Amino acid sequence: MSDLSFPDTPRVDAYDKVCGKPLFGADDVRPGLLHAALAVSTIPKGHIVALDSKAASGVPGVRLVLTHETMGAVKSSGFIMGGGYGFQSFQPMLSRAIAYRGQPIALVAADTLEAAVEAAHLVTAEYIEEPFSVTLGAKGTEIINQADTPLKNFIPEIIAGDADKVFAQAPVRIDATYNCPPQHQNPIELIATVAEWNGDKLTIHEGTQNAEAIRHGVALGLGISPENVAVISPFAGGGFGQKNSLQMQTILAAVASRETGQPVKLVVPRAGVFHDASFRPASRHHIRLGADKSGKMIAAIHEVDAQTSRHDLFPGEYTATSARLYGFSNFRGVERLIRTDVQTPGYMRAPFEHPACFAMETCVDELAYALGRDPVELRLANDTTIDTATGLPFSSRHVAECLRRGAERFGWTNRSMAPRSMRSSDRTEIGWGVAIGAYPGLIVPAVAHLRVTDEGDAVISVGGHEMGQGIRTALANAISRKLGVPAAKVSVVIGDTRAAPQHLTAGSWGTASAIPAAEDAGDAMLTALVEVSHGPLAGRTPAEILKAAGRQSLELEVQRKAPGQPDAIFGRLRAGLPSIGGPVFGSYVTCSYIAHFVEVRIEPNTRRIRVPRVVSVADCGRVMSPRTATSQVRGGVVWGIGAALREASEVDPRYGGFLNADLAEYVVPVNADIGSIEVEFIDEPDTTFNSAGAKGLGEVSMVGVAAAIANAVFHATGRRLRDLPIRIEHLL
Ligand code: MOS
Repeated sequence: MSDLSFPDTPRVDAYDKVCGKPLFGADDVRPGLLHAALAVSTIPKGHIVALDSKAASGVPGVRLVLTHETMGAVKSSGFIMGGGYGFQSFQPMLSRAIAYRGQPIALVAADTLEAAVEAAHLVTAEYIEEPFSVTLGAKGTEIINQADTPLKNFIPEIIAGDADKVFAQAPVRIDATYNCPPQHQNPIELIATVAEWNGDKLTIHEGTQNAEAIRHGVALGLGISPENVAVISPFAGGGFGQKNSLQMQTILAAVASRETGQPVKLVVPRAGVFHDASFRPASRHHIRLGADKSGKMIAAIHEVDAQTSRHDLFPGEYTATSARLYGFSNFRGVERLIRTDVQTPGYMRAPFEHPACFAMETCVDELAYALGRDPVELRLANDTTIDTATGLPFSSRHVAECLRRGAERFGWTNRSMAPRSMRSSDRTEIGWGVAIGAYPGLIVPAVAHLRVTDEGDAVISVGGHEMGQGIRTALANAISRKLGVPAAKVSVVIGDTRAAPQHLTAGSWGTASAIPAAEDAGDAMLTALVEVSHGPLAGRTPAEILKAAGRQSLELEVQRKAPGQPDAIFGRLRAGLPSIGGPVFGSYVTCSYIAHFVEVRIEPNTRRIRVPRVVSVADCGRVMSPRTATSQVRGGVVWGIGAALREASEVDPRYGGFLNADLAEYVVPVNADIGSIEVEFIDEPDTTFNSAGAKGLGEVSMVGVAAAIANAVFHATGRRLRDLPIRIEHLL
């Protein structure tokens, strides 16, 4: 790391977390709390003809059974990518309609969880079934060209030069199709709500990435003023995109609490989150990549078919990332959406970037072998400073440095190029693979409120949600550095709609949005302290200055937005609507990058695939919090290993829904699957992007890992596998 590096300080909330002190949304226990459970649809599509809740109502302790007939005047809060607040526009239990298997049809609230669960199982329904489709190629799906929809207004098509013509004449061509399955993010903390009314005021306790969307979405759905709703979410036990908008259970809990006059807790069980929350849609990628004899990539065409629901168009942004990997002078990106009968898919960590780079970076490896060129050297030869999609320069781009440092640290020069050329003495096949990843640089508006006291405390309130990524630590460190107050004396108030407007925390924009705002607040505070002290601070702490001036505290508020955003963006922020700037900022484009080097070992008889060693070098601008940044990359690599070798949500086209809806059958890597993961950072600030120089990191961390693994499997075995996940049966 450069000498700019910030010190490696521990997480500010680590001790409390290890002691079990932080209360997550559903940990909230209070007098009179009722527990709720859901009954769900057992058909994949159709409508309810009759619903029988008599037996459920008779279970001792049951206080309420809610169905579409008793929900009262509630409406959908809309789809977050359609001007609304929900992960989908379809709110269950507002009508007889069944849009997908597993959809809630009734809620039971009872004195105990046991009574609620027992009663929910006793709710029965008669249905009329309708034909349905749940896979990309199924009969009855509807294919929509995204460029023919209003989505094109905020997701422009990526077209540069004449890719079709140049590809047709390219001396070296790869034409292949890659498939990624649907996947479900599984945060340890389930989606869950505690709702409580106090007169006409509603308080929601919930682990979320988007407290403001919950506040406004619940208000809209219930027809009440957002002034009367507060959402409190100091911690989320993982989000990964699943908690990035209003989930269906929040309104149900709020209605149940209003009807019973008691606080209600609704925890959606693990099987439920496979059907009642968003997921990574299935996607198919047809790539044509052409190069000249010297190995210059001269044309690429990336066509994507991605799954969406019947009721919403979940926008695809795949080719915006694949186009930005290299200096393609001719590129054409196509996104098509395929309507299926599922809940609306959504943003799961690196939602587009992971599948897009799996496909493109596997294809680039195929090109390297077609050309007989070393895969690292081919990538270096096609590096660029200009963005293919816009023709604009990148504000910073250290892909080559990531590749060089990674190759050095991994020992890449010891690799022999030919597939099946590296073996250990017990005939284990060894493969070394490489791939790069990119992720757009994004910034959202933030309002930061800072208060210092004569007792030496500082309180920073800003938009942001702590989901384990470490934003609280990064904020405490930023204020500590500015004001010379120990990080332990900095309180960070985030995820609380009462304290500051809470923009969705996602898209790896948290650090680049909240930290510069907090630093601005720190600078403003230093100026204000100079005024209070009528002279220079002369190394004194804020507390010393306040004491000398006879003041107990000093507070101020600043606001900050992405370059080029209009002031009206703060209105959107306060309304809980996505207000995202980037990655194109007028005269430049910003992305984060990473290079992954992977070793796989394949056992000769069992064909078990192991990943003993990964080296990842990231370009995320300035590293604001080395401890949490390193941890982000390790986690991202583990996700990439899961995506490459384990995870798939299984679908049976005869029944719909998702079959492996629990952690026993939705297989993720465990500790024993993970070997050494070495992480290094370029740590070059990008001050064109923001004053802190920080770019995003959380998502780029996993981008390219799956391709590096697939490429290593090819190197080990000579088998080019283009469908994820890669499992033992593919190597027999
Ligand atoms: Mo993340 S998938 O942008 O919440």
